[in-house]
Amino acid sequence: MEKDFQIVITGASGFVAKNVRKHLSENNVKLISISRKNFKKFKNETKIVSRNYDEKNILPKIKNSYGLIHLVGIGKQSIKNNYNLINVDFTKKIINLSKKAKIKKIVYTSGLGVSKSNSLGYFISKYQAEKLIIKSNLDYTIFRPSYIVGKDDLFTKYLKKQIKKGEIQIPGSGNYSIQPIYINDVCEIISKSLTDKKFKKQTLDLVGSESISYQNYVKLFSRKTQTRIKKISLETAYHDAISKPQSEFGVDDLNLLIGDFKGDHKKLLNISKISFQSIRELLESRRLL
Ligand SMILES: NC(=O)c1ccc[n+]([C@@H]2O[C@H](COP(=O)([O-])OP(=O)(O)OC[C@H]3O[C@@H](n4cnc5c(N)ncnc54)[C@H](OP(=O)(O)O)[C@@H]3O)[C@@H](O)[C@H]2O)c1
Repeated sequence: MEKDFQIVITGASGFVAKNVRKHLSENNVKLISISRKNFKKFKNETKIVSRNYDEKNILPKIKNSYGLIHLVGIGKQSIKNNYNLINVDFTKKIINLSKKAKIKKIVYTSGLGVSKSNSLGYFISKYQAEKLIIKSNLDYTIFRPSYIVGKDDLFTKYLKKQIKKGEIQIPGSGNYSIQPIYINDVCEIISKSLTDKKFKKQTLDLVGSESISYQNYVKLFSRKTQTRIKKISLETAYHDAISKPQSEFGVDDLNLLIGDFKGDHKKLLNISKISFQSIRELLESRRLL
């Protein structure tokens, strides 16, 4: 990519952002990365630490950047941070900033399962954020990711923690499926989406090629670790998620799992033309452990 091609990234300390920043930096893209907290910067990167992304501080620094990758988002609510505030209003703020900064393109990660008929709060907020982006008149690519897996994503860390305890719990039957995608593939696709015309004004499921039942995923993930796999009733799983709000696995994490969402991998493959990492192979190689 050209040397003066400048990209802004929000939510810079997050899992996807860290990996995308590293990937773009290694590809000589100039970065302006924004986070609420201090972080270590990569080559070609300018750091902005801002609690509330105030315009006065941020606008002069991001002016005339080519694109913005919006990776701020939550999958669990609290009194301070609810879906409307962070997934919807914050996206509105970022769109306004982008327009004022004359940014041309916005890339957003929504969620697999988002649709106009989904009635859950998480999905509604992501749907509304998508709509704001579509109506913004900016060029955009909206991705709807399934589980993005790497060494240190929340889901992988959650499973590794259970392995350490010697037991992985499966809520309900475990027959519902997930369609994970490897983080390196996500970085390549997001990077391509910035300039490749095929991604212009597209909404794409960000999913791997294989849909795997949760039960099989957990078995493959924990192979050769001597971990007991135990099915627990959905009632127990939901009760735990509701009564322990601090636990990593919240009610909406359960909803996402049980939702059994399947994405259109073929469309993503046709547009991106990248060679995807097989998730089964990744699990068999035990590289996530
Ligand atoms: N990872 C997945 O499997 C997956 C699947 C579907 C959708 N997504 C979406 O993809 C995006 C990135 O996911 P991720 O896994 O990288 O999530 P993550 O690690 O939780 O990162 C999200 C980032 O959002 C920022 N953020 C959170 N609350 C905020 C607040 N109140 N004000 C301002 N910024 C706030 C934080 O950035 P700072 O700490 O740097 O300020 C945080 O690091 C999210 O929108 C997520 O919903 C991810």
